Amino acid sequence: LYLGLDIGTSGVKAVLVSEAGAILATAARELALSHPAPLWSEQDPDSWVDAAIGAVDDLAARHPGEVTRVRGIGLSGQMHGATLLDEDGRPLRPAILWNDGRSQAECAVLEQRCPSLHAIAGNLAMPGFTAPKLLWVARHEPKIFARIAKVLLPKAYVRYRLTGEMIEDMSDAAGTLWLDVGLRRWSPLLLHATGLDLHHMPRLVEGSEVSAMLAPGLAQRWGMAKDVVVAGGAGDNAASAIGLGAIAPGDAFLSLGTSGVVFRVTDRFAPAPASAVHAFCHALPGLWHQMGVMLSAAASLAWLAGVMETPAAALLAPLGERVDGPSPIRFLPYLDGERTPHNDTAASGAFVGLRGATGRTQVVQAVLEGVAFAARDNLAALSAASGPVAELDLVGGGSRSSLWAQICADVLGIPVHRIEEGEVGAALGASRLGRLAVTGERPAAVCTRPRRLASFTPRASVTEAYDEAYRRWRELYRALKECS
Ligand code: XUL
Repeated sequence: LYLGLDIGTSGVKAVLVSEAGAILATAARELALSHPAPLWSEQDPDSWVDAAIGAVDDLAARHPGEVTRVRGIGLSGQMHGATLLDEDGRPLRPAILWNDGRSQAECAVLEQRCPSLHAIAGNLAMPGFTAPKLLWVARHEPKIFARIAKVLLPKAYVRYRLTGEMIEDMSDAAGTLWLDVGLRRWSPLLLHATGLDLHHMPRLVEGSEVSAMLAPGLAQRWGMAKDVVVAGGAGDNAASAIGLGAIAPGDAFLSLGTSGVVFRVTDRFAPAPASAVHAFCHALPGLWHQMGVMLSAAASLAWLAGVMETPAAALLAPLGERVDGPSPIRFLPYLDGERTPHNDTAASGAFVGLRGATGRTQVVQAVLEGVAFAARDNLAALSAASGPVAELDLVGGGSRSSLWAQICADVLGIPVHRIEEGEVGAALGASRLGRLAVTGERPAAVCTRPRRLASFTPRASVTEAYDEAYRRWRELYRALKECS
């Protein structure tokens, strides 16, 4: 059997997968996030480890027989988070996460210091990525910077604690701005621009390769054999792709997780930084991908649910499964700034069009549509970079909602599909990488496509209204930027 562990932002998910590839059980543990200052987003690295071990404990308690038969484990993780370790492998400070916007000024420094950054790393310097965070630490917390022995990404820290080894996979490493993404190896030049060198980096492996063995103490705790393999694994978006069977050039999906992502597989390193499109390694050798990233997708709905003190499902229920046209309210989902296409940490969220008669359902609908409009911006950026996308599978927590899926189809103008197990796509993908590392099978034999539960096609009756609403929505970002 195989285990997939996804170290997300709002929680850790664990899935137990059979030899036939079926999900036998899932477990989840929540994670706390802290915003100690405006634009900051941090987490305690040890909370990831506790949640990961706790989630496997839960599986072991409920399925003791099956868990003992696990042969391979795969890890998926929220990308980019800077986890700074001292000589003894202990965190020096809370991890600075992917949705942290404090390092905008350092991005400009990096771009200036390193004119070849775009060509080597394939990406703009954006505050979400790891390298500018390190420049921020060097500048604002020099004593901590001086003590850094290793910089790990979130799932590499969890791996270190599960195996004792510091190792990273290519897809996640590509989000640091220290990887030569085309050559799939660390770039001493890019590291140097951040005041680091190769010693600060973990060893690199492909996502489907063996990285290390599960520590004997944990194998014993869960009743597993002594030789349980931990695969390289993947950044959460590449892991979702593996879970979806998106491994052929052109395959694409839309993730509505805390962040939102439009992802497309490419057969080569294809940088397109102009509109903040990301170009990263995929989790399988010889493959890459592009993606557009929204910082608040399902996070926007979670925010509204928090503010209204009502669970998201209860907010959505009165809207039913489809709406008959755009809400009169417009919502900008830039609660944590935005990456694609604006690369602007100062962008903020907004509701526009409120009237005395505005009701709660219109506000809820506006949030779903605002995220869908932002996804349309991302789709346009990817299309400009490498041609049109024909259809999208949906993954992430937001993929549970048929209403949101229909809105996405109507707004994006292409079919979208809800798929089986779409909510645990990244953890499933991680388990598949665990399997590939153990068996060495052909990726295509393992990375099959999940069953489609329902397909949503754009409705001609609302196309024009949504095109017009999108056009007006697009103007808001610029207009509000000028007056904020
Ligand atoms: C991708 C990104 C997010 C995180 C969320 O570049 O920052 O999708 O990976 O976990």
